[in-house]
Amino acid sequence: MKRYKWVSWLIFILIGLSFAIALIPRAPEKAEETTGLQAYAQIPADRVYTNKEDNEQCLKCHAKNHVEYMAEDAEKPYKQKMYTECIIDTHSYYTSNHWNFKCIDCHTDEYASFPHKAELRFEAIAGCMDCHGGDPQYEEFMFDQIDQEYQKSVHFKLQSESFSCWSCHDEHYYKLNARNRKDDIMSAIQYDNDICLSCHANTKKYQLIANKMNPNILEKHDWLPNQPNHFKHVRCIECHAEINDTLIVSHNILPKDKAVKKCAECHSGNSQLMASLYKYQLEEMGAFRLKTSGLMDQPVLIGGQRNTLLKLIGNLALFGAIGAVLIHFAIRLFRKS
Ligand code: HEC
Ligand code: HEC
Ligand code: HEC
Ligand code: HEC
Ligand code: HEC
Ligand code: HEC
Ligand code: HEC
Repeated sequence: MKRYKWVSWLIFILIGLSFAIALIPRAPEKAEETTGLQAYAQIPADRVYTNKEDNEQCLKCHAKNHVEYMAEDAEKPYKQKMYTECIIDTHSYYTSNHWNFKCIDCHTDEYASFPHKAELRFEAIAGCMDCHGGDPQYEEFMFDQIDQEYQKSVHFKLQSESFSCWSCHDEHYYKLNARNRKDDIMSAIQYDNDICLSCHANTKKYQLIANKMNPNILEKHDWLPNQPNHFKHVRCIECHAEINDTLIVSHNILPKDKAVKKCAECHSGNSQLMASLYKYQLEEMGAFRLKTSGLMDQPVLIGGQRNTLLKLIGNLALFGAIGAVLIHFAIRLFRKS
């Protein structure tokens, strides 16, 4: 009988292992595409790039961690580490809104020579409005209204010298987000919040704009119960931007004392959230139900989380029961042998 003992141990361990594996939380499959400011979408198959070759002139250095450069009268190539902020992520660049731009559509072509001249640092680069302002082709985005709103915002009022549309819209990677991600609201929220956090959680970038302390964003919002969960489920602009019925993305960031602090603005049937973040879904479903978003299938009410808790208890009970049966089975096997 003794020789069967190791068999029952083995079965027991295998079953245990398979449960352990089943319980490991799985990373979402699309995680890589959907994080942060990186572009999220695949390149459409019908896209024809016409400027990749030209861009190689710049990317042979600017897509690399190290620069190799042969000076005219030198014998050996000279090597230098590339500053992180000067490295371009080509995938994000080529999936951005401006995917078919030459580097020198925005930058002066004097950059073609290296070492770059120091004064190029002060080159004037076109802003969104220089290209999109008043252009009927881009009417649906309402650039002119966005510009008006932006000029009322705190950033413009307090820091008009150092702030611009480029401060929030990454010059190389900016990509339309919420309007194209109606079925993936959670990623849309993360993308939009990362725009704000790129300064509000990054003192170096913040202080390039304003020469002052960067307030700790987590502490400033510690009055929100389960603050991390709120930052995952609502966008900063839901509380910080003036409501605007015509724009998809409201651009008037209000002074901090005008921010939404009342819980009922969201946690009630007729909420502020209805007016902005979820308006795409409202359009499509005609009702405040967020089935596909995985957020919740009820209007946002405090206690809406109870379902999750119930599910957890249910799962625990189920696994508990199965576990008990297994242990019982194993003990019987050991006793027999
Ligand atoms: C031989 C390598 C090399 C090539 C080719 C190159 N660069 Fe650069 N570039 C650098 C390095 C290194 C820096 C870091 C700052 C410096 O050393 O001037 C830089 C800095 C820059 C900056 C930032 C300047 C500043 O200080 O703010 C811009 C913008 C830029 N390059 C654009 C371009 C463009 C556009 C092209 C193509 C037309 C290009 N570069 C081609 C190596 C290169
Ligand atoms: C749509 C316009 C646009 C295009 C296209 C563009 N850039 Fe830029 N780039 C900008 C702006 C705006 C800045 C910010 C300048 C500033 O901060 O003063 C910038 C900054 C940079 C910097 C300096 C980064 C830093 O933080 O110091 C580098 C390097 C650079 N660009 C390289 C490139 C290269 C290489 C390409 C082509 C692959 C390219 N850019 C294409 C608009 C553009
Ligand atoms: C140098 C001119 C220029 C500048 C500066 C510029 N754009 Fe564009 N933008 C274009 C062109 C041209 C296209 C069309 C790209 C294409 O589809 O080939 C475009 C495309 C777009 C699109 C995508 C439209 C669509 O139908 O998919 C958006 C959104 C956009 N730009 C927003 C901006 C914003 C925001 C800024 C400033 C932060 C900006 N652009 C700066 C010229 C510019
Ligand atoms: C304080 C940060 C901030 C500034 C400054 C800013 N934007 Fe935006 N903008 C955003 C955010 C966040 C979004 C939402 C991105 C998304 O979900 O597509 C957005 C979206 C947009 C869109 C897409 C709207 C749509 O209909 O899908 C356009 C166009 C745009 N901004 C243009 C501009 C222009 C033009 C300026 C300057 C006059 C500007 N933005 C300045 C944060 C900013
Ligand atoms: C639920 C609403 C809500 C959300 C979501 C929210 N905020 Fe706030 N925020 C507020 C309120 C209210 C204040 C003012 C707090 C106070 O004065 O006590 C504030 C204050 C601030 C301040 C000023 C801090 C200071 O005292 O100088 C900044 C900056 C800020 N928020 C940025 C953000 C960013 C970035 C996000 C997204 C990651 C965000 N907020 C999300 C409501 C919100
Ligand atoms: C490029 C950096 C940068 C980005 C991106 C940015 N901010 Fe700011 N923000 C600042 C700076 C700097 C200040 C402080 C300005 C001052 O006090 O002079 C500020 C101030 C604020 C304030 C406080 C205004 C007050 O009353 O004192 C709020 C609220 C705020 N930002 C919200 C946002 C939101 C929401 C977003 C995203 C849509 C955002 N910010 C994106 C740099 C940024
Ligand atoms: C801008 C809208 C907004 C505001 C303002 C807001 N909430 Fe929320 N709240 C949400 C959303 C969205 C969720 C996510 C619901 C979910 O997880 O299913 C949430 C979740 C919650 C939860 C669920 C439990 C958890 O662990 O996350 C509680 C409790 C809560 N909020 C309380 C409050 C209180 C108290 C206030 C006021 C101090 C407040 N909320 C302000 C939008 C908001």
